[in-house]
Amino acid sequence: MTEIRMKVNGSVESLDVEPWVSLLDALRERLGLTGPKKGCDQGACGACTVLADGMRINACLALAVQYDGREITTIEGVAHPLQEAFVRHDGFQCGYCTPGQICSAIGMLAEYEAGMPSAVTKARGLSDAEIRERMSGNLCRCGAYNGIVDAILDVAG
Ligand code: FES
Repeated sequence: MTEIRMKVNGSVESLDVEPWVSLLDALRERLGLTGPKKGCDQGACGACTVLADGMRINACLALAVQYDGREITTIEGVAHPLQEAFVRHDGFQCGYCTPGQICSAIGMLAEYEAGMPSAVTKARGLSDAEIRERMSGNLCRCGAYNGIVDAILDVAG
């Protein structure tokens, strides 16, 4: 067991974790934060996306011990205009992917503002194609992609 301390949604949390425990399992099972979802548990769906020091990560691929001393934000700690925009634009159906979509979109907007390139040629402003490329790590099995893109455009525009 290793003792780690993380600031999670503004509160400092100390917990003992085995070295193989993922950040996702630590958040869900040790801290009771079930907003981040376990979809594939192998980095393919994005349902587990959280923010680590403001950058989006797949919590299922991260070991909790790697995040000792870091600041983690899950959907439970998010208060962002994107949340109302998702409601306005029907950016979800069943809602399972939504916590990850919103955390990912917040991280994506920060990456975009910091000038991090995507695979799509960056024109002025975020285009529909640019958003789809930058959000391609977050799957929605209901197919609410149009609403998700519209919600992000609403906030980013
Ligand atoms: Fe982490 Fe699917 S549960 S990417």
